[in-house]
Amino acid sequence: MSPSSSTPFSSVPSPLGYGHRHLLGIEGLTADEIGVLLDLSEGYVALSRSQSKKTALMRGLTVINLFFETSTRTRTSFELAGKRLGADVINMSVAWSAIKKGETLIDTAMTLNAMHPDVLVVRHPDSGAVKLLSEKVNCAVINAGDGSHEHPTQALLDALTIRRRRGSLAGLVVAICGDILHSRVARSNIHLLTALGAKVRAVAPPTLMPTEIESLGAEVFFDMRRALEGCDIVMMLRLQTERMHGSYVPSTREYFHFYGLDRDKLAAAKPDALIMHPGPMNRGVEIDSEVADDIDRSLIRAQVEMGVAVRMACLDILTRDLRRDNAQAGGG
Ligand code: CP
Repeated sequence: MSPSSSTPFSSVPSPLGYGHRHLLGIEGLTADEIGVLLDLSEGYVALSRSQSKKTALMRGLTVINLFFETSTRTRTSFELAGKRLGADVINMSVAWSAIKKGETLIDTAMTLNAMHPDVLVVRHPDSGAVKLLSEKVNCAVINAGDGSHEHPTQALLDALTIRRRRGSLAGLVVAICGDILHSRVARSNIHLLTALGAKVRAVAPPTLMPTEIESLGAEVFFDMRRALEGCDIVMMLRLQTERMHGSYVPSTREYFHFYGLDRDKLAAAKPDALIMHPGPMNRGVEIDSEVADDIDRSLIRAQVEMGVAVRMACLDILTRDLRRDNAQAGGG
């Protein structure tokens, strides 16, 4: 296999209807392709809940998790996903790598590529860095979050979580609330939710609302209660202070007053509206513990569970052609 061209996805015919070599973002995927990944994930929910939890589907294949930013959920669930599929999984974090000695992203990618991994899972603080890296390596690349650009597996696990509770995403009203400016989760979710027929409302203070958000298909609100009126899903986002240079909100106390989710604001949504948060949560900043821990309405724990299944589906689908070629070469 040769390195990809400059297009985000180089096409490889797949019998399952996912025609891309990498998963770099939700933008560019069709509703059918998203549906293929969600349907495949369902089987992995069942497998992960079974006693054995494991299959040998990816035996002999190597997954490298390359994280240039911190992560609890994404890194751990990709590790679990790879191991449950029988792959060899290597975790590399910047703190222990030669990047600390000045090695560039591309040199790091080329070095890892020389070890013949089959999948690279990459998180990087710069938007576009994962796509750049994907153009330099021979294997499939999964974007585990690049700057404020995309976090495709988060949007897929969010969609799977909603679909399992509501049956379908079509026609649902989803309010995405908080630091939308810095949020790759918001961007991937807007692409996915609109592709599957949901209506998206973006809610943020003016300082945290990106100018291009309407062009992505979201309706803009600055008043949280108005935005939540009649909503089916309330998706909260963390204030990403690590990406902020300067002051975007007067204080976290005032931010919570206007934009934090509590029982009072939630009352504006539908009585059975569900609460989501990608994590990590800042309790008392964007969400109150009473609603975050509501066992009837909060999907936050379910989101984490779906993360493993979705990541198993992504690893499965991106190595399908390789596994077929290996089986044919081995006479399997
Ligand atoms: N939601 C999410 O990406 O969490 P982590 O940063 O813990 O991976």
